[in-house]
Amino acid sequence: MNESENKSRTLFERAKNVLPGGVNSPVRAFSPYPFFVERANGSKLYDVDGRSYVDYCNAYGAMIFGHAYPEVMEAVKAQFTKGTLYGVPTVQEVEFAELIQKVSPCVEMVRLVNTGTEATMHAIRVARGYTGRKKIVKFEGCFHGSHDNVLVKAGSGATTFGTPNSLGIPGDTTKTTIVLPYNEIAAVEEVLKREGNDVAAVIVEPVLANVGLILPKSDYLASLRKLTSQYGVVLIFDEIITGFRLALGGAQEYFNVKPDMVTLGKVLGGGFPVAAFGGKAEIMRNVSPVGGVYQAGTFSGNPVSTVAGYAVLSILEQRKSEIYPQLEKCARELSGALFDLAENYRLPVQVYSIASLYQIFFTDQEVIDYSCAKLSDVKMFNAYFHELLRQGVFVPPSQFETCFTSMSHLAGDIQLTIEAFDRALSVVSKECSV
Ligand SMILES: Cc1ncc(COP(=O)(O)O)c(C=O)c1O
Repeated sequence: MNESENKSRTLFERAKNVLPGGVNSPVRAFSPYPFFVERANGSKLYDVDGRSYVDYCNAYGAMIFGHAYPEVMEAVKAQFTKGTLYGVPTVQEVEFAELIQKVSPCVEMVRLVNTGTEATMHAIRVARGYTGRKKIVKFEGCFHGSHDNVLVKAGSGATTFGTPNSLGIPGDTTKTTIVLPYNEIAAVEEVLKREGNDVAAVIVEPVLANVGLILPKSDYLASLRKLTSQYGVVLIFDEIITGFRLALGGAQEYFNVKPDMVTLGKVLGGGFPVAAFGGKAEIMRNVSPVGGVYQAGTFSGNPVSTVAGYAVLSILEQRKSEIYPQLEKCARELSGALFDLAENYRLPVQVYSIASLYQIFFTDQEVIDYSCAKLSDVKMFNAYFHELLRQGVFVPPSQFETCFTSMSHLAGDIQLTIEAFDRALSVVSKECSV
């Protein structure tokens, strides 16, 4: 294609005049310009220039069935004829909340919100209200959305664009946020021993999926559970990525560790904005209007998102014995192929995979935390990413994100992807190796 006729490039130039960086979320911007999507179906995105991409970004994990999944689309279409926002309660919200309660081990009560950012912000507020304590503990590289308390050494776009500590947040706000390395239980033990009586919550991504993919050490989550119980600290699992992906009951079910609270999002809405925070009734009863912790939202529990989310959870529940093994098999095949191909090209890589998540790091060191992830070669990753794109495969455009399989990835997609991996790693080995 003649570059001057490239519609995505032209749109990006136009977008930059009106949207900061040309995008509505920084992770979508990449050099020299992102492709603009016209439509999506199943495993594929179709851009405005007539190209298609097998999609492993899946809207950063949200699209567990792939795009425009018929059963979810039908549920939403049926709702459209009945109105889209009422501002008063509906039976659908109650049924949806009951289903979340049924499948999420720690959820006795839940509040629906619209985004993961809202969910973690309010979960932290509730934990503070419940305990009467100020401080929170978070871990380096964990991303809990873009609100003031947690934008400290944050992963995802905050790391990609070099702003893990955002400007514009008063030092006084983050003074109460204690940041520790992930996977190092001794650090948590030391802090709780010293100031456990001031700590309201420990918030953690049970699998760290926002600086690439980092798995918890075998006893890490159980030890976090034990320590937080000992000091009366609320343990919050941020399962906005892992929820309904590691298992129907998320990381809590997968690792058999029950937190006090959980935050959910992404998959929960089937492509519509829904998130939730929930947990023990004793804690959740502090939420307004029954308790003194204020939380509200015009669009919370809106009927369109609610019916979409209900459809997703119902399908996952009915077909879980088929869905989870298929998603995992796909991620294993892809990560296994990546590893073998990288070995063939003698590239220094680490490849990790769990359930429907996988990612490659261009480093010869095992990656167990944020500082290890930062050692990986971003130049190699970028060469890999761009060659994949040329081959019609879209993965999140940063080393500090994770890839996701969906139920729409079929044998043909996997074959095409493995061939693209081969081509991309060959380019990396030629262009980047020292
Ligand atoms: C673990 C985690 N928590 C919270 C969020 C924020 O969710 P949202 O983008 O819906 O605000 C994200 C987003 O990627 C996330 O990965």
